[in-house]
Amino acid sequence: MKPRRPKKSNRTSNSAGELRDGILIRLCHGIEEFEACVQVERNVWQSADVDVVPIPLFVVAAETGGQVIGAFHENELIGFTMAIAGWRNRKPFLHSHMTAVLAAYWDRGIGRRLKRFQREDALSRGIQRIEWTFDPLITKNAYFNFMRLGAIARRYLPNAYGITTSPLHAGLPTDRLVAEWHLRSPRVLRVIAGKRATPAFQKKTARITIPSSLEELKGSDPGAAARIQSKIRAEFQHWLGKGYAATAVAPGKSGVDYILEPWKAS
Ligand SMILES: CC(C)(COP(=O)(O)OP(=O)(O)OC[C@H]1O[C@@H](n2cnc3c(N)ncnc32)[C@H](O)[C@@H]1OP(=O)(O)O)[C@@H](O)C(=O)NCCC(=O)NCCS
Repeated sequence: MKPRRPKKSNRTSNSAGELRDGILIRLCHGIEEFEACVQVERNVWQSADVDVVPIPLFVVAAETGGQVIGAFHENELIGFTMAIAGWRNRKPFLHSHMTAVLAAYWDRGIGRRLKRFQREDALSRGIQRIEWTFDPLITKNAYFNFMRLGAIARRYLPNAYGITTSPLHAGLPTDRLVAEWHLRSPRVLRVIAGKRATPAFQKKTARITIPSSLEELKGSDPGAAARIQSKIRAEFQHWLGKGYAATAVAPGKSGVDYILEPWKAS
């Protein structure tokens, strides 16, 4: 009998990292790679020096039970995710402070691969929860967090980091939702398996709309953008205060709608 040929695959995965379509995802090591992360950070957020997370913090994250994970194309770092170790409800968790991919590489699944690698690494160390904050006005990130990763959000932090110099923040208060990624929850397992984040919205749900005009207003009429942000903040505070969780986004009549559902405490 002929020996069976190994199946052709463009994917390899081992402790050295995960290689697919020419992009390698692996842990970062050493000052030079952390410096490359800072370059990507500068490129993506374009913040003034005072707002840049510097190399020593990447060292601290890597050395104290957090993570620095990179995406490499032809040995060049083109994206990373960085997390620091924390403690919540008497258990270890990771706070994922920054995830970024160079814009030229967006929408190719690299962000998702970074997060999945982050999840695997956390689980291999017995960590079951990762959190991060995200701007509720940037609905692409909400889509990524809820629909592609299976995270949920139950907390809203008004002006979490103060007003920053990043053009991505458009001079607005840095209001943030806290994404909770419960790594072994049925929701996350469903999404990781390629199924829908939410099987059906059977419960009593609420909607909060992010108007599609907002992105343009951030540039043309910052005052109007700030008023819309305040209204959205009040709506989130109302529903999250009633014990609802944001679990999905969907196209709405005048923009993108967050979908919130009653959530049992955990
Ligand atoms: C968030 C970020 C890391 C995602 O990286 P990425 O490599 O583009 O992520 P992926 O390709 O895995 O997933 C992006 C998804 O959003 C979708 N998407 C793109 N633009 C969108 C939009 N305007 N609205 C909704 N979804 C959108 C993509 O189609 C893709 O979904 P799909 O897999 O169903 O096609 C990247 O956009 C980034 O660096 N943003 C700037 C920094 C930032 O905001 N970081 C997060 C907060 S710390």
